[in-house]
Amino acid sequence: MLSTAEMFGTFCQCYCNIIDCTHQDVSPKIREQCKDLLLSDEQLREVMAKLLEAIKKGLGKNTHKDATVKCWTTYVQDLPNGKERGKFLALDLGGTNFRVLVIHLDESHFDMQSKIYAIPEDIMTGSGTKLFDHIAECMANFMSENDMKNERLPLGFTFSFPLEQIGLTKGILKTWTKGFSCSGVVGGDVVKMLEDAIRRRGDIEIEVCGILNDTTGTLMSCAWKNQNCRVGVIVGTGCNACYTEKVENVELYSGDKSKPLMVVNTEWGAFGEKGELDFMLTEFDKEMDQASINPGKQIFEKMISGMYMGELVRLILLKLTKDNILFGGKPSEALLTKWRFKTKYVSEIESEKKGVHTACRTVLQKLSLTHASDQDCINIRYVCECVSRRAAHLVSAGVATLLNRMNIPSVTVGVDGSVYRFHPFFHDLMMEKIAQLVNKNLKCSLMLSEDGSGREDASVAAVSAVFAYHLNVAYGCV
Ligand code: GLC
Repeated sequence: MLSTAEMFGTFCQCYCNIIDCTHQDVSPKIREQCKDLLLSDEQLREVMAKLLEAIKKGLGKNTHKDATVKCWTTYVQDLPNGKERGKFLALDLGGTNFRVLVIHLDESHFDMQSKIYAIPEDIMTGSGTKLFDHIAECMANFMSENDMKNERLPLGFTFSFPLEQIGLTKGILKTWTKGFSCSGVVGGDVVKMLEDAIRRRGDIEIEVCGILNDTTGTLMSCAWKNQNCRVGVIVGTGCNACYTEKVENVELYSGDKSKPLMVVNTEWGAFGEKGELDFMLTEFDKEMDQASINPGKQIFEKMISGMYMGELVRLILLKLTKDNILFGGKPSEALLTKWRFKTKYVSEIESEKKGVHTACRTVLQKLSLTHASDQDCINIRYVCECVSRRAAHLVSAGVATLLNRMNIPSVTVGVDGSVYRFHPFFHDLMMEKIAQLVNKNLKCSLMLSEDGSGREDASVAAVSAVFAYHLNVAYGCV
């Protein structure tokens, strides 16, 4: 493992080759407009201090109710040891798609079949019963396509929304995030809702063996391969982290305290809901928040995650156009339309070599902005860099907060999510910034959660299968 100084040195060499750190070619007016997106280490340390306070409040029995960072108990107290084997099902719900998998765990690798199903917008915002009926139907189809209709298999249910867990197989949804708003689910037990939907069909038999957040899944899947893994982070549609906390600090957990650790799902995406981040919010953050379906909520997440990154860039580009410093002052219908600038465009634009504008022009074509000049392309790339870099720095501040709190000399952080996977420099940016923010005696590395099959689309879901089997072994729940 590299020391902090080594990590930083390696980073500087490779990163500055890719990005012109001086940005001399960017128009001064553009730099001026973006300056509030550049966060100093001092500001990041302020974020860390406030986040730590929020975490402590979330863990405390008397302070939890008012805490923004809820630090939910996951009931996961044992991490996989890499010896788990077997066959089981996994279900992953947390974004615009959901996935069903059947998985065989073997000597340190996965063998699996999986299928991705869309969740149409009317189901995301319709009734809860419709949502769970849709999921149960897809599961039944999946089982019959894979000749498993007569088998009774354990299921790990990755449900990536804020859950108050009452046990390993009972979780009350506290609020929807990431664009979901299905009625009749908040306040209810989502495991029961899934089981009820399966029972209503009557054609498949499934036993939900555990429910978990995607961050916990990432932590467990990485721990299956790397025993140093103590933190799980997602930077995808949403952003969140879990970590292992001393069980005596998890005041809301009243069960058996003989095992020393508990995985805590921080739900740090909600950080900032009590104004903790107001000191660094830009006019663009405020505008986007107001236009979202949950104004005032998930502020930290809105500054970081893939659901919002493209929209932030769009709002900045629009302002620059209105100020007549981009596109000759002429916007297009698409640029004026909410959510039309996709987060994947940010990765595409930043992935190409400096000075080449092919990817940028392809994006601009999709947005009917073909009148853009080469200088516009340089400026657009800079805006993307400012937004993605700020996101990476904020996640790093979050990770460094957890590492400092755990104070373990060497920790591996399992990371997953589309932004982390597809943005060309996100990993490097995080490595650099964590090294600068973490206490000097601590070492850390970032590990991408992998399913071993080389199929990126299935990895997040695969981890819940590890979880299902692990719990089967650890607790004999099936
Ligand atoms: C949102 C959810 C959280 C999840 C994260 C990443 O923040 O509330 O549960 O872990 O997105 O998917």
